[in-house]
Amino acid sequence: MATQVDTERIATRAAEIAALETRRLVERTPASEKLHRRALDSLPDGVASNFQAGDPYPIYLERGRGSHVWDVDGQEYVDCHGGFGVNVVGHAHPKIVESIEKAIRGGTHFAVTTEKTVALAEQICDRFQLERMRFVNSGTEATMDAIRVARAATGRDRIVKMEGSYHGHHDSVLFSVVPESAVLGLRNQVGGESAGSDGTAYTTQPTSKGVPRSMWHDTIIVPFNDAKAVEDVCREHGDEIAVVILEPVMMNVGIIVPEPGYLQALRDICDRYGVVLIFDEVKCGATIAYGGAIERFGVRPHLAAFAKALGGGTTIGAFGGEASIMEYVTKGAAQQGTFNGNPLSAAAGYTALTEVLTRDAYEHMGKLGTMLAEGCRAIIAEHGIPGHAVDLGAKGCVSYRREPMKNYRDFLEAHDELFYASYPWMVNRGIFMTPGDEEQWTLSVQHDEADVQRYIDAFGEFCAELMK
Ligand SMILES: Cc1ncc(COP(=O)(O)O)c(C=O)c1O
Repeated sequence: MATQVDTERIATRAAEIAALETRRLVERTPASEKLHRRALDSLPDGVASNFQAGDPYPIYLERGRGSHVWDVDGQEYVDCHGGFGVNVVGHAHPKIVESIEKAIRGGTHFAVTTEKTVALAEQICDRFQLERMRFVNSGTEATMDAIRVARAATGRDRIVKMEGSYHGHHDSVLFSVVPESAVLGLRNQVGGESAGSDGTAYTTQPTSKGVPRSMWHDTIIVPFNDAKAVEDVCREHGDEIAVVILEPVMMNVGIIVPEPGYLQALRDICDRYGVVLIFDEVKCGATIAYGGAIERFGVRPHLAAFAKALGGGTTIGAFGGEASIMEYVTKGAAQQGTFNGNPLSAAAGYTALTEVLTRDAYEHMGKLGTMLAEGCRAIIAEHGIPGHAVDLGAKGCVSYRREPMKNYRDFLEAHDELFYASYPWMVNRGIFMTPGDEEQWTLSVQHDEADVQRYIDAFGEFCAELMK
């Protein structure tokens, strides 16, 4: 166990590395810096989405091929960012390119359902054990519509959400996504009303300005991996609660896996109280297993939301589940969208699910993921780094906390200064990573052992430097 002195020394060393490597990054990426300055005149922060911002500025990419990407300075990287988990097919996969080229020649958009859209719906239902599904265009829309349909089906308004989970940027779920440690522990400060099974208080904290105060009351926050907390909330407010929504594997805080029995316990509680259980599989569906978390953990929710990897790299989202709930889209719950089921996304998604993301592909990505996580684990052990590695199919990460995490509060204890030193270090050595410590690596069918070894080597050099 690292002593206080060790921890302080590592933090000092991390700050030195971060400063040096950031200077190197700036020297290597003048074209990104220039494009950033230009972009600031049209785009707030110079990016298309808040999540694309980064320090000292974002690295702007020009193209991708296979498992590699190139930035606007012409620098080449192994892509471990994976477009926030979209690119399990890798870049410009020949089969995906062919399917999109063919679809484009037949017309890019009709706002009329095509045969390919129906075929993709059949694939998604089959793969993720859904009785009925509808298309949307993003993960945000998928969870938004799933919640609306669940509210329509139950005639109730309130939702239960896990502290530290991200479900997109619609108002109902923009609570307690990244609450600061300073505000935690203030019971019922702005409308939440729950406690963990150890008695810790949980509160509803808006994550964004602009979320109406009138909505704060409707979202109740509980800790992940604590079925009793959900049971207690349901016992007290069951007839008001429409939804329990969660990422079955938390993936916006590094990675936190569900404890054995937790997901089934939630399903049983929801059944008892007539609450709709929604799995947000936007990140884990089609990455952690062929059939996502539903297959990997063997628990079926009432509804599930998908996006990201489902579309073979194109814009897509979907949600679905039990027919008796989904039928509310034909009984008054608004579910629509001009681009839903767009032919280009349908073609790319269909090819991805039927020809690229096969069971063999998951075996390949699983082997690479294990090689990467085990490589990192060995390095962590060798140098005594306060960290651990998680291995989950195409997804995995190093979190700078010695013990695996159980919930969001554990994530707050991680040594984020180590991440902020590792980020420029890895990028400067040709490993393209996400700029935030809440993310994880995404591997693709086009990655190979040489890519993984490059990551392991760069990480090993980083840890050696840190402990010098
Ligand atoms: C678990 C989860 N749900 C929903 C979303 C929102 O998806 P999108 O960015 O496509 O709106 C994300 C995005 O990262 C996510 O991680």
